[in-house]
Amino acid sequence: MTIKDIFDTMDYGPAPESASEALQWIADRGGIAGHYIDGKWGALRDDFASNNPATGEKLAGVTKGTADEVAAAVKAARKAQPAWAKSGHQRARVLYAIARLLQKNSRLLAVMETLDNGKPIRESRDIDVPLAIRHFYHHAGFAQLMDDELPDSEALGVCGQIIPWNFPLLMLAWKIAPALAMGNTVVLKPAEYTSLTAMVFAEICTQAGVPPGVVNIVTGDGDTGAALVNADVDKIAFTGSTEVGRKIREATAGSGKALSLELGGKSPYIVFEDADIDSAVEGLVDAIWFNQGQVCCAGSRLLVQEGIADRFYAKLKSRMDGLRIGNPLDKCIDVGAIVDPVQLAQITAMVDANTEGETYQIAAPEGCFYPPTLITGLSSASTLMQEEIFGPVLAATTFRTPSEAVEIANNTRYGLAASVWSENINLALDIAPKLVSGIVWINGTNMMDAAAGFGGVRESGFGREGGWEGLAGYTKPKATAKPVKPATPFAAGDGASADPLDRTAKFYIGGKQARPDGGYAQPIFGAKGKLLGHVGIGNRKDIRNAVEACNAAKGWSKTTGHLRAQILYYIAENLSARADEFAARINSLTGGKSGVAEVDTAIQTLFTYAAWADKYDGQAHGVPIRGVALAMKEPVGNIGILCDDTPLSGLINAMAPAIAMGNRTVLIPSAAFPLAATDFYQVLETSDLPAGVVNIITGDHAELAPTLAAHMDLDAVWSFSSSDVSGAVERASAGNLKRTWVNNGLSIAPAAQDYLQAATEVKNIWIPYGE
Ligand code: NAI
Repeated sequence: MTIKDIFDTMDYGPAPESASEALQWIADRGGIAGHYIDGKWGALRDDFASNNPATGEKLAGVTKGTADEVAAAVKAARKAQPAWAKSGHQRARVLYAIARLLQKNSRLLAVMETLDNGKPIRESRDIDVPLAIRHFYHHAGFAQLMDDELPDSEALGVCGQIIPWNFPLLMLAWKIAPALAMGNTVVLKPAEYTSLTAMVFAEICTQAGVPPGVVNIVTGDGDTGAALVNADVDKIAFTGSTEVGRKIREATAGSGKALSLELGGKSPYIVFEDADIDSAVEGLVDAIWFNQGQVCCAGSRLLVQEGIADRFYAKLKSRMDGLRIGNPLDKCIDVGAIVDPVQLAQITAMVDANTEGETYQIAAPEGCFYPPTLITGLSSASTLMQEEIFGPVLAATTFRTPSEAVEIANNTRYGLAASVWSENINLALDIAPKLVSGIVWINGTNMMDAAAGFGGVRESGFGREGGWEGLAGYTKPKATAKPVKPATPFAAGDGASADPLDRTAKFYIGGKQARPDGGYAQPIFGAKGKLLGHVGIGNRKDIRNAVEACNAAKGWSKTTGHLRAQILYYIAENLSARADEFAARINSLTGGKSGVAEVDTAIQTLFTYAAWADKYDGQAHGVPIRGVALAMKEPVGNIGILCDDTPLSGLINAMAPAIAMGNRTVLIPSAAFPLAATDFYQVLETSDLPAGVVNIITGDHAELAPTLAAHMDLDAVWSFSSSDVSGAVERASAGNLKRTWVNNGLSIAPAAQDYLQAATEVKNIWIPYGE
């Protein structure tokens, strides 16, 4: 090609990055990726191949970690943990050293990532590696600040971390940096397709002075991952498919292991007719063609306002025509190779199975490449609008009004991210809170930063990575808890049946007292065997009715903190007016003398959360991209709560923070001492609390716990129960991947901050700000 030709065609000449250093690096290490355990290279076997997807050539052999090898890594991590947790400043120095060394090796890392994963070098060089570096710098700071800023928190211990292949180094950084910063040690398993940058990282750890055993890497596939899940770790942090996430939820249920899941998505990309269309079209290149669409938060569902749809699609198609697809090592390439032929086959099968709408594709080279694809005219219910394709395929539909846009956007089982494009700030900021997702980008897309938490709601998983909120996933309260002692209900004594007052307390559902669906009740006796009354025995249908009442009370979540505070104060006032009666009731239930003190505690608790209702503010994260990320604290939604055995406080401790933050609740009071909770209906009835915000059902915890946890319309379940239900709650929660907070059989006494955190979900809204 002559210079004249180039001027005539304006074509880009190839500008390939050299692969030789990276290939030499692999060759120098015997061409095998394997375990890094206790600061040393462990077993190195050629169990399976890691290929360059762009060429199909083998890059290295990979060792498939066995359960014994995983156990050895966990053992090394366990041994190293106490010393590592000692000094935040020392950890900060080490994390800083890692960041510096990543920076020095950034070219090698970028080329290695592109060879192994197939992503364009432009992306690995400008996004993956710099963001990984930023994560270590940022978390070096958190390590330094931990002692001062989180004095009541400590490390969890050993964290098992399982990452996917779409951002191998970046996901490693997201997992390792916060874990290490908070004093944990880790065993990380890279994805089977992409283990190589983790090998470079292991060498960097040695150079950075990471003490042996603090970072361990075990390579392998799903079996190795499953072995890590079952190993003696204190937490599993997983990023990957929703299907595997669900399996891990089930596998860790009842084990006491902490869990964070960052799963799939089907994120809407909403373009209003007053958007800057050229920017919105350009944004889509980053939303769905970035990393070949293999991005959990990819803007894979395009919603365009009807009036501009034709113009928008035309511009988009012409932009697609200009996308350059091919050799990922070429710096001019926009779209690289799909990670593996297996993934390519999956994308192809999904698109080929579609019979709806119109498909527009550009040409793609032979091999493991999939053409950027736009499918317009789909209905919101069609498979391609609902299922994660995890490829460069954009599914599109139109909408007429903002409310219809919100409805379509939220019509998904996922809730990871969303983009909103509009030049009208009122419209954009009106839509953002209505979207059910962990992240909203306004006039932008796929922006990520260490300072802003990343993570979703619904089946996109739970937990956040990055920011202050991400640290919570790697710490626990310092207080040690003792095993919970279940209260034994008192048995009937002499003359019990002679009690003339045979009152049966009903349930409290939707602001009304309701009879048990099953029609069964049980007697409750006092310490001396005197019959105190009867309570209903709740069943699945009662829970269903209570959840329906919660759904009908959605307006509560939109009320102001000020209003919620007023109502909590009013509840406290009404309780205070009947303090003697409640104190006597508590004493008769427990046979103790703590009634007066317990009522006083309950009133104080109501005051505490009335105080927090309008003060538990979000944050504005400074992100180094022209913008600010508003970390808004939103209610979780409907929360089912199994209370502890303190008759009144057990109910109030959990109810007050939950409703203060705008949640609706289904509460199951102490099974042994339920009558203070049922008396409490009258306080609620006179306190202006809207119907359905608090629903109370009495009954057996072991029976009701799995029903609560399996209910698809509950967003979270908490258990402080003295019955052994933690495992059952976690196991049954896998269905809709609801958030769980369980006591694991311990008598935990959470601090106000723990309750408030569990009662809220952080949504990061990125808005343009400044220059
Ligand atoms: P995957 O979820 O199977 O793999 C992710 C990681 O989990 C890998 O390290 C894998 O070895 C490990 N793993 C697999 N089975 C395991 C088990 N039973 N226990 C513990 N660890 C296990 O994802 P895969 O198969 O690579 O991709 C399949 C689909 O998952 C994709 O098409 C995409 O839809 C989705 N995906 C979503 C990602 C996200 O970031 N949300 C990332 C990767 C895949």
